[in-house]
Amino acid sequence: APSGPLKGKHVLVTAGPTHEPIDPVRYIANRSSGKQGYAIARAAAEAGARVTLVSGPVDLADPPGVSVVRVESARDMLASVEIALPADIGIFAAAVADWRVVHEGAQKLKKIGEASPALSLVENPDILATLSHRKEGRPPLMVGFAAETENVIENAKQKLLRKGCDLIVANDVSTATGVMGGDQNTVHLVSAAGVETWPTLAKTDVARKLVEHLSVLAGASKA
Ligand code: C5P
Repeated sequence: APSGPLKGKHVLVTAGPTHEPIDPVRYIANRSSGKQGYAIARAAAEAGARVTLVSGPVDLADPPGVSVVRVESARDMLASVEIALPADIGIFAAAVADWRVVHEGAQKLKKIGEASPALSLVENPDILATLSHRKEGRPPLMVGFAAETENVIENAKQKLLRKGCDLIVANDVSTATGVMGGDQNTVHLVSAAGVETWPTLAKTDVARKLVEHLSVLAGASKA
């Protein structure tokens, strides 16, 4: 078994977008490359953890030493997360679609007549909030992400409370930053302890630094 500060810990990571089917050929999705989440899963494995990565559809190879579960929709993602529990640390980097279509068409929607189809949407389960607010079986350290285009810190503070997690990793994803799909990230760690802003780093370095930070919070350094 690998050694390292997270030896003996189970780390659960979600990454990538979810795809919410409209009909057999169409879906609703969020923009997410999965790069940051995959880098975190890899870094956690390198730190000695047993890692389960529940991933939406992305164009990335399985990180070495990580057990990867591939899913499509938010509901699939929640189901796979439940199966993977218990975990010592949960890191929720997935860009989950907030809504899904109420009735998935069994056949491809056709362009006939004048009217365009109207999609009725219903809210998806919030995986991070569901687990964070759970009394039993809650991973002791729950980490969420906040992709914001404005008021990054303020929105992250509100998200920390609303989701009930222990830490929010907030980043500015306004298009000019190039964060989405790119290899770099500028993040702020927002928790009850305050706000810590990191310099712009490669996503792989953000991942390593975050895993180091979580190792300390999880008390792994005492083991
Ligand atoms: O509310 P918002 O989508 O901005 O919250 C982002 C955080 O919540 C991320 O950590 C994301 O993975 C998580 N999330 C989730 N399930 C959802 C929506 C968001 O786990 N349905």
